[in-house]
Amino acid sequence: MSKLNIVPVNQSKIDTVNFNDLPFGTVFSDHMFSCDFKDGKWQNPTISKYEPLTLDPSARVFHYGQAVFEGMKAFKDENDAIFLFRPEDNFERINKSAHRLAMPEFPKEFFFEGLEELLLLEKEWIKKGAGNSLYIRPFVIATQGAISASPSEEYKFMIICSPARSYYAGEVRVIIAEDYSRSADGGVGFAKAAGNYAAQFYPTSLAHKEGYQQIIWTDAKSHEYLEEAGTMNVFFRINDKLVTAPTNDRILDGITRKCLIQLAKDNNIDVEVRRVSVAEIKEAAKNGSLKEIFGSGTAAVINPILGFKHSDFKHELPVMKDSYATFFKKTLNDIQYNITEDKHNWRHKVSK
Ligand SMILES: Cc1ncc(COP(=O)(O)O)c(C=O)c1O
Repeated sequence: MSKLNIVPVNQSKIDTVNFNDLPFGTVFSDHMFSCDFKDGKWQNPTISKYEPLTLDPSARVFHYGQAVFEGMKAFKDENDAIFLFRPEDNFERINKSAHRLAMPEFPKEFFFEGLEELLLLEKEWIKKGAGNSLYIRPFVIATQGAISASPSEEYKFMIICSPARSYYAGEVRVIIAEDYSRSADGGVGFAKAAGNYAAQFYPTSLAHKEGYQQIIWTDAKSHEYLEEAGTMNVFFRINDKLVTAPTNDRILDGITRKCLIQLAKDNNIDVEVRRVSVAEIKEAAKNGSLKEIFGSGTAAVINPILGFKHSDFKHELPVMKDSYATFFKKTLNDIQYNITEDKHNWRHKVSK
């Protein structure tokens, strides 16, 4: 594998950025990492100025959606040390996604070398303090120009970075899916494949028209079991027990979800990983035992869900004083910002 080529910009644009007003995912840092797959191997790993790409209009990514991505964050502690959070899991997941889309896997040393060198170069873009982070978006696209419907023989792996403030998705109420499906058995739901997200936009826009921000997807076969939401896994608190669906080939194996299951165990919170039926949740809503619903994911960590609708049944969740959502968000954030002990080795220090 060839050596990483670093071409720093002459002048950073950081002074033009208002860090107090950062709509999520709209501002990008000075540099990007890229690496090309050509002639059967990954080559030309480069860190260079963040700028537009030139691609052939027949590049297969435009026609067949051969594209996968990841979402991860870097944090800075009070002593300016930089940390990634479970980056090995993102690395493994992007290759799992790539494999399913007939794309070549990316080598581990390259992923970590490219990522860490990029973060060291962008360290001023990672602000300390609660809620601040650098959102990192690794992705792979099929670049070969040829519109026959077959896998590309050329790809580009890239990493771009976007400074992020505490992510507040606003009030979230959800519709439980009855007709549309996000994924199917044997499909690509477990992969972070670009097309999975495109396919959600239309049904989600219909939900918006009804005043709901997200959809909780149900299994495609029966629409009887709750699976996950837009970019979040979903947890239900019934009395003091936490319940979440098991992952399968329709559901993304969320890293935040895995952390919450572990943190629940660490803190003696009863947690069950099992199928959750719509009927059970509606019954729990009716008899008052449904205390909370929240989504888990890298962008927001935890996103409390205030209410839901299923067919003509509507329900508002109670406001909890001892909310699990608040507890998990703080507990996980404190680990991410190197404030508390990291007993599961989730932090990954970035240093020369
Ligand atoms: C479909 C989907 N489910 C769940 C998640 C949460 O995963 P993670 O906690 O790894 O961010 C995401 C976000 O990455 C997602 O896109």
